Amino acid sequence: MNLKISKNNIIQIFVLILVSALSSCSSDSEEDLFNQVEIKDISFSEQIVPLVETNCYGCHSMADSANGAGIVLEGYDNIKTQIEANKFLEVLTGANGLSLMPPFGQLSETQIQIVEQWITEGAQNN
Ligand code: HEC
Repeated sequence: MNLKISKNNIIQIFVLILVSALSSCSSDSEEDLFNQVEIKDISFSEQIVPLVETNCYGCHSMADSANGAGIVLEGYDNIKTQIEANKFLEVLTGANGLSLMPPFGQLSETQIQIVEQWITEGAQNN
């Protein structure tokens, strides 16, 4: 096989690598900036309920909590009970020796921060 790489090719490849490295850098910091702006004034109904609905109702809904050891996470009062037991946020990281929730795949760092911030803001029913 006759592989001919000219000086121009090498420069092109180098520029490509540089551009892709730079662009991934800048998108990371944009995302960080975005997250810092977003994660405050958390709404129970607009952010927490959808998050729990998607990630926890599979096992912890009112209609069916058999797969979640009978623990219901539907409704503010039921979630508040778990917060007061120091379990709602803690299970998301498996803190205090609790089983990690959801069992099949941890939430993203941003999702966990949203829950944490909501609790910091007083876990309001807002
Ligand atoms: C695939 C089913 C499943 C999903 C999805 C799931 N859980 Fe669980 N959860 C369980 C089971 C089973 C238990 C009881 C056994 C255990 O603690 O490991 C449990 C227990 C818990 C407990 C009580 C822990 C304790 O030790 O008292 C909390 C709080 C909890 N889950 C929160 C959540 C939250 C919050 C989510 C969503 C982010 C979630 N779970 C998603 C199955 C699930």
